Amino acid sequence: MAPGGLPSHFGAPYHWPMSSYEIVTTRDRPDLHAQFDEAFRGLWPEFIFHDPVSNELFPRVATQFPDYDVTVVHEGVVVAGAWGVTLGWDASIDDLPGGYDDALVRAFAGLGRVHDTLVVMAAAVRQGYQGRGLAALVLEELRTRALRSGLARVIVPVRPTLKARYPLTSMAEFARWRREDGSHLDPWIRVHERLGATILGPAEKSMIVSGTVEEWERWSAMRFPASGAYVVPEALDLVVVDRERDIGIYIEPNLWMRHH
Ligand SMILES: CC(C)(COP(=O)(O)OP(=O)(O)OC[C@H]1O[C@@H](n2cnc3c(N)ncnc32)[C@H](O)[C@@H]1OP(=O)(O)O)[C@@H](O)C(=O)NCCC(=O)NCCS
Repeated sequence: MAPGGLPSHFGAPYHWPMSSYEIVTTRDRPDLHAQFDEAFRGLWPEFIFHDPVSNELFPRVATQFPDYDVTVVHEGVVVAGAWGVTLGWDASIDDLPGGYDDALVRAFAGLGRVHDTLVVMAAAVRQGYQGRGLAALVLEELRTRALRSGLARVIVPVRPTLKARYPLTSMAEFARWRREDGSHLDPWIRVHERLGATILGPAEKSMIVSGTVEEWERWSAMRFPASGAYVVPEALDLVVVDRERDIGIYIEPNLWMRHH
């Protein structure tokens, strides 16, 4: 590890004093909560915040899984964060959770299974601090914590940054897109691969968001004059609107990756 507790590869390319970045848990620093909205909310599209499964279970995450809720602070400012949950997974593709929603449900359901796997549910870096390796920093912190707690596996339902530009392409196809040097086309998948993670396969129904036509118009700042499938900014797949039933449904695909 480099000075300041940072992994050794956080070296020369980044021109900021490493020791001024501190990693804390939300449990240790509840005072930082007040900054979360300002730091992170704008990084995701509004519709993401209307997933009923997440809205029901997320408020219990920090209490139930306090060791896997980490924040990076720089001179008193929250600059990055990540959180995860644990569950039982037998390391087979068949036993993978359906995605983000199902991982949350399984984490709280218990089902009598031993929790042996950390699922990294989200990571975010404040605007102005992106592109400096802070996401890898929080991922490594969570991996280290999982190892220290005796968890055998770490998986992630990855929301690839660039997928929203290709909503007509399946996640299975997008997962195959690589650059000439062999690295992945998507920067967020690249971060995971650089840390040694591999792609397991698509989570086709990772998260489901449903709303009235008026709600979708508000969330997306668009109009949906007729029933049909729409390309919505920051959505990884199409949003299907049915005006007669006054409903819009979005099924978000993610990509399961496993860290080793
Ligand atoms: C995805 C995210 C977590 C990556 O964090 P990060 O600390 O910026 O990641 P890195 O510094 O390792 O950069 C990763 C790659 O993205 C590129 N990148 C990062 N931020 C960028 C930006 N604002 N503009 C252009 N490229 C950027 C980097 O150059 C790097 O590319 P490389 O592989 O060619 O070197 C961050 O961009 C983010 O918070 N996004 C919004 C929330 C989100 O989508 N989270 C992930 C799903 S839960």
